[in-house]
Amino acid sequence: MSVAGTIRATSRKMGNVLTPATYAEGDMDILTKLKKEHREVQLLLDQLVDAESATERKSLLKKIRAALVPHSRAEEKVVYDAVRALKDKEARQDGEEGYLEHSLADRMLATLGKASAASIEFAAAAKVLRELLNHHIREEESNIWSDVKDNFSDEERERMNRDFEAAKKKVKIPA
Ligand SMILES: [Fe+2]
Ligand SMILES: [Fe+2]
Repeated sequence: MSVAGTIRATSRKMGNVLTPATYAEGDMDILTKLKKEHREVQLLLDQLVDAESATERKSLLKKIRAALVPHSRAEEKVVYDAVRALKDKEARQDGEEGYLEHSLADRMLATLGKASAASIEFAAAAKVLRELLNHHIREEESNIWSDVKDNFSDEERERMNRDFEAAKKKVKIPA
């Protein structure tokens, strides 16, 4: 595991300790939930880039797909569509940009799925996916989140989290 991966794994463990056990999933702010899932996928991406064996790469790719695909589809439906429906032109553009970046990530997942896990092509695509998603997550957490904070109340954001969880369950993960 890389140094960054180790630091992330350690801070994640600490974060779990600080989360009260009584905190109901449905009451969570959508942004708290998204942040948690972003950190999980970023950790897996670091592991994928560092992985050298084909078996390890395949298993990590499977985990990334299982985490990322439902997150992206539910986020589009619940968050991006809400932001695209706002009057604010910049917010609407942020939503469009989010959709485009998700489709690039989908294409990179498909490339990884087709490549031989021992190949240089796979290693290259893993790095591209990590760069793309780190960029995407950074922008999302600043631009889209400002749009959400500026336009939706605490209650609305908790409802968005419940809708997000329900939407994720309906997503089929491509093989
Ligand atoms: Fe996200
Ligand atoms: Fe996203």
